[in-house]
Amino acid sequence: MRITIFGTGYVGLVTGACLADSGNQVLCIDIDAGKIERLRAGEVPIHEPGLEALVHRNVEAGRLTFSTSAAEGVAHGLLILIAVGTPPDEDGSADLRHVLAVARSIGEHLDGYRVVIDKSTVPVGTADKVRTTIDGVLATRGVAHDFDVVSNPEFLKEGAAVADFLKPDRVIVGTDAPRAIELLRVLYEPFTRNRERLMVMDVRSAELTKYAANAMLATKISFINELAGIAEQVGADIEKVRQGIGSDSRIGYSFIYPGAGYGGSCFPKDVQALARTAAGVGAGSQLLQAVEAVNARQKQVLFERISNFFDRKLEGKTIALWGLAFKPNTDDMREAPSRVLLENLWATGARVQAYDPVAGVEAARLYPKQCSSGELVLVNSTTAALQGADALAIATEWQEFRSPDFEGLSVALRHKAIFDGRNLYDPAHVARFGLRYFAIGRGESVKKS
Ligand SMILES: NC(=O)c1ccc[n+]([C@@H]2O[C@H](COP(=O)([O-])OP(=O)(O)OC[C@H]3O[C@@H](n4cnc5c(N)ncnc54)[C@H](O)[C@@H]3O)[C@@H](O)[C@H]2O)c1
Repeated sequence: MRITIFGTGYVGLVTGACLADSGNQVLCIDIDAGKIERLRAGEVPIHEPGLEALVHRNVEAGRLTFSTSAAEGVAHGLLILIAVGTPPDEDGSADLRHVLAVARSIGEHLDGYRVVIDKSTVPVGTADKVRTTIDGVLATRGVAHDFDVVSNPEFLKEGAAVADFLKPDRVIVGTDAPRAIELLRVLYEPFTRNRERLMVMDVRSAELTKYAANAMLATKISFINELAGIAEQVGADIEKVRQGIGSDSRIGYSFIYPGAGYGGSCFPKDVQALARTAAGVGAGSQLLQAVEAVNARQKQVLFERISNFFDRKLEGKTIALWGLAFKPNTDDMREAPSRVLLENLWATGARVQAYDPVAGVEAARLYPKQCSSGELVLVNSTTAALQGADALAIATEWQEFRSPDFEGLSVALRHKAIFDGRNLYDPAHVARFGLRYFAIGRGESVKKS
């Protein structure tokens, strides 16, 4: 099939590469000319396991191409996917500016039947807005063309996006148009062979399903983080509690890891946007607001612990930081807990020596001023981050941080303290090396410091 994807970011590029790999002719469009230039030159602008090889293979085979031309995009695809960003607006609602700009472009160039597929995460009612926008532009052109609008939210996880796309848990298709359903069935058939994964529903339910999924996952994280706070105060070990509850199949082990709060481009904005939707229709959203508040609080915990440890005198201190990305296997730092920690540390006069296996480039892009002032020094290894450091903080659970040389750590760190926002180590084991260990809901508590 001929497919056009508007928006060549984490979702658009992964979707484009995977759809090209199953034999489709895919054209990826983006308004970021620099990004398109880099992709044309063979450079993959984001870090995602398996993506680079997939992109190269399909570009070489002539199935995956890139352009900045919306006209070319609309002319190319029978299926037109919208995968542009939907960042939070000032009031927390989803900003549909980019989605509706694509809808206008489609209206301007439409010359026959197309299926317009919303992959971006968008509030309930957006498919109607996309339809109205396209219709409006067609009316001003004085032409009439048939098209369907489908909600087909994306559930891939950054860090495992290619694998998730190739083996989805489910494919949600929101439409009542039989022709569109048929085309999407064909599109996803290569990824749903071993069992039926396509769930067809009305468009509003499909739009809400995406928010419901992210809100549920965020709720689990805030739940365990709140529990971690209780565990600290009552002298319990949250990791034991986590396993104790996870073993109940009704609860399960996933998404109940205590930590420094959730980040990324999805959970924070989607929880907020759903709460805004609720407010807009007069429905309650107490739980969503609590999830958000617990998370905002949790993102402060690492810094508070460090600050308490140093009696609030962080001026001139050097903190080693392992992990910048909001989670492992990605270079994405959007809403990352590491950023809250970095900004708090700088505000109190500390400097940071940070190492992340892939997100260093992104950190340099986000914090050029701090890089040139020396407040942020980006280094190439875990050990380089420790040189001359007073203490170590951990913000991302990269695999390579899991079995460090504790003896080396004990020698390198002036104050022999680890502030672990991901609970990577056994507190008793760390203590054997003369290190103080502050984790989330276990180890030494804030009070003791
Ligand atoms: N990142 C994820 O893990 C993930 C997972 C599921 C769903 N989503 C949703 O998918 C959507 C995209 O997310 P993302 O992380 O890929 O965003 P992204 O910021 O990585 O990419 C969006 C791209 O769209 C481009 N763009 C903006 N306006 C455009 C236009 N008019 N025409 C063409 N391109 C345009 C931008 O230049 C950018 O390259 C969001 O709604 C997000 O919530 C993201």
